[in-house]
Order: sequence, then structure tokens, then C-alpha cells
Amino acid sequence: MPIKKVMVIGAGQMGSGIAQVCAQSGYEVLLNDVNEDALKKGMQHIENRLTRSVDKERIREQEKNGALARLKSTTDMQNVKGCDMTIEAIVENMDVKANVFRQLDKYAPEHAILATNTSSLPITEIAAMTNRAEQVIGMHFMNPVPVMKLVEVIRGLQTSDATHEAVADMAKNLSKTAVEVNDYPGFAANRILMPMINEAIFALHEGVASVEDIDTVMKLGMNHPMGPLTLADFIGLDTCLYIMEVLHDGFGDSKYRPCPLLRKYVNAGWYGKKSGRGFYQYN
Ligand code: NAI
Repeated sequence: MPIKKVMVIGAGQMGSGIAQVCAQSGYEVLLNDVNEDALKKGMQHIENRLTRSVDKERIREQEKNGALARLKSTTDMQNVKGCDMTIEAIVENMDVKANVFRQLDKYAPEHAILATNTSSLPITEIAAMTNRAEQVIGMHFMNPVPVMKLVEVIRGLQTSDATHEAVADMAKNLSKTAVEVNDYPGFAANRILMPMINEAIFALHEGVASVEDIDTVMKLGMNHPMGPLTLADFIGLDTCLYIMEVLHDGFGDSKYRPCPLLRKYVNAGWYGKKSGRGFYQYN
């Protein structure tokens, strides 16, 4: 069955970006969040980004208006009834995601594909919360979603070929490049990226260099567009810590031990850009 209507669950940095690209690509989109304020903010961010794109002549006014007309919001997940696909982008926590997938399985139409944007959690375990494991898949977008071209498409143990094909096709419709990845902790992207970020935090923790200098080393020395500590702030330090814990638990290898400084910052509520303070300070 063709995918026409999509519910995006979670209206934070990732969910609002995913909802935007889906609406811009012609899908009917229902953006959902448990938190009414977060939902309002998410919708506002989408409108602001689209307006900025019109101002910079990247898109036409018509495209902005079309996307906004296809986009609705709801705090009630039961409104998933008419959707062909759901993409979950809520907090990186297995218990919270498990609960959402149980509800989605109950209320979503039988044919609907249930995707998750998890950065690191096992797709197979998320799928086991439902009675449709063959229709559960990882669709890991990169941040910021409207800009970044990659989507990791992660197959759980029981994900069917039909589900994989439908999601790979959808990624193409969203003008993204999909790579097929198997279900291992951190998949490919974060298995490679997060240990580098964690090592940068260790370097800071051990006094090897300052925040700015660590970032400069990687920008000017390795040609990275952004230093690892800036990137960590951008991703969210809570999300970084969660991913390191998933790698550490999943592989049982001490090389994935989260840096104590990362844990300290998260305990202090320093989540990075989204909370106003991380390795850098934001207004
Ligand atoms: P965020 O903290 O910006 O947004 C999460 C949103 O989910 C919040 O608005 C919250 O109110 C909402 N939420 C929490 N529980 C909910 C529930 N039960 N039902 C509906 N909404 C609920 O988080 P962010 O950064 O958008 O991350 C979301 C997911 O995307 C996580 O799984 C994360 O690992 C993944 N991800 C994050 C990336 C990043 O760079 N931040 C990159 C790729 C994936």
C-alpha cells in the first residue's frame, strides 16, 4: 500500500525536521507530542525554517504554503488511525519508546509501517513490543534533518523485505540517500561518531587542550566542518550519554565507557545547545 499519510511522534529537534521534510515532499503529516508546548514550538520552528528558505530563495512561497497545508498537529496518539506510516522521534530511552510502540501497534492501521529514528537502540527489541515485527524498522535521520542527506535504514531481525523497500523508496522521495545497516549497537553512524566525541570529552577532562582548541584541531587538522564538542552540544549531551551507554552495554567493552565529564554535565542539566549550556554557552 502506498505511503500517503505519516504520523511523526516527538516534535523536538529531530521530529520537527522529519515532519517538515515529509510535508515538503508531498506527504500528509500529523505531528504528535505529549507536551503541548513542545508541539507548538515544533510547529513554529517548521514555519520559521520554511520562511527562512523562502527569504533565501531556496524554495518558493507556494512550496512553503503547500507544506504547511499538509501539516497538522495533535497531542492524541490515537489520531494515528488514518496513517500508513509512523516515525517515532522521542527521547532516547527504551522504556519510553517501548510504551509508545505498544500504543502505536494498538491504534495504527494493520498495514502501517512503524519506524523509529533511534540513534542507537536495538530495532529488534523495539519491534518485539509490537505484534508486527516485520513492519518495524529503523529510519535514522541526521541532524539537521532538512539539510543532511543521509538516512540509515536499519533492519531488525524480523523486518520484511517489503518494509525495507517501502522505507528505502520513501527516503528517496524525501531526497535523501539511504544506506542499509544491520541491527548492532549504534548502527554504523554512531558506532563511529560517538567514540570520537567521547574521546574529545576525555581529552578535555584530562586537560589535554581547551574546548576551543580541541574543536580547532578537528576542524583545521581533519577538515571536519564542525568540532566534536560543538557537535556534541548540537546533538544534545543527554543523547550523547545515552548512546555511549548503549554502546557500552551492547558490546560490554570498556573502550565505550562514557567520559565522567559527559555524565557530570548531563547531571547538571547542561544538555548543550537546546538547554543553553553545554561545552559552550548559548543565548
Ligand atoms: P528532543 O529532546 O529535542 O525531542 C524529543 C521530543 O519527544 C520532546 O518534544 C518530548 O516532549 C517528546 N516526547 C517525549 N516522550 C513522548 C511521548 N511518549 N510521546 C510523544 N512525544 C514524546 O530530542 P531529539 O534530539 O529530537 O531526539 C529524538 C530522537 O531522535 C532520539 O531517539 C534521538 O536519539 C534521535 N536522534 C537524535 C539526533 C540528534 O542529533 N539530536 C540525531 C539522530 C537521531
